[in-house]
Amino acid sequence: MAKQRAKLVVGNWKMHGRLADNKVLLQAVSQGADALPEYVGVGVCVPCPYLPQAQALLNGGRVAWGVQDVSAHAQGAFTGEVAAAMAAEFGASYAIVGHSERRAYHLESAELVATKTQRALEAGLTPIVCVGETLVQREAGDTERVVGMQIDEVLAALSPDDTARIVVAYEPVWAIGTGKTASAEQAQAVHAFLRARLAAKSEAAAERVALLYGGSVKPDNAEHLFRQQDIDGGLIGGASLKHLDFLAICQAAVAANAVR
Ligand code: PGA
Repeated sequence: MAKQRAKLVVGNWKMHGRLADNKVLLQAVSQGADALPEYVGVGVCVPCPYLPQAQALLNGGRVAWGVQDVSAHAQGAFTGEVAAAMAAEFGASYAIVGHSERRAYHLESAELVATKTQRALEAGLTPIVCVGETLVQREAGDTERVVGMQIDEVLAALSPDDTARIVVAYEPVWAIGTGKTASAEQAQAVHAFLRARLAAKSEAAAERVALLYGGSVKPDNAEHLFRQQDIDGGLIGGASLKHLDFLAICQAAVAANAVR
């Protein structure tokens, strides 16, 4: 039987939320997550102003919280930016770095993403490093070259020990928010490729690092994805805003481990 790794399901709220709606969502997710087995980790990455609210409502429960980006700088004259250490002060556990929306709309380079990964680690946060190809790149047969370059830039900046402390999310750009999911087999192929890249850096890290899939994960496709050998969970956008959908995806992680 295949070795079972812990599972991790993290919500990426993106720029959504209002205090009153968040309260309902966070309380429902927290309550639902209490029933999950320990091997399923759950997190939500909220917009920075809502960190205190997430901390107040989630503290002491099963659901961790985090941010969707951090500055590449530790502190200083960088108007509008948020340092990883600031998020850590509000109990954050996770920081998404290199999301394709940041790479596309804010022109974040692979090098910048590597620096942000380092800042997150220094602050004690677990960076969720996102990689993924566009549709044009996939159709040109460039998927491995693109995600390989993205992950290698980050790995080059990290020690083997630090490599074991990251989470990697494979998010094909063409599947994000589009309703198109990579097939479980397509996703597994890229996850296996990423696992091999991690192993080239450190065998121990490759064993430990959670590889999440992201891109239109929904309750009805999550289990099949999570059953794949190298898919350790999901980074969930749209469906993380509805507590029933998000909790159903967490349950899919339980079901996937049961049948694997
Ligand atoms: P989606 O977003 O689930 O809405 O496709 C995933 C993500 O961008 O992290």
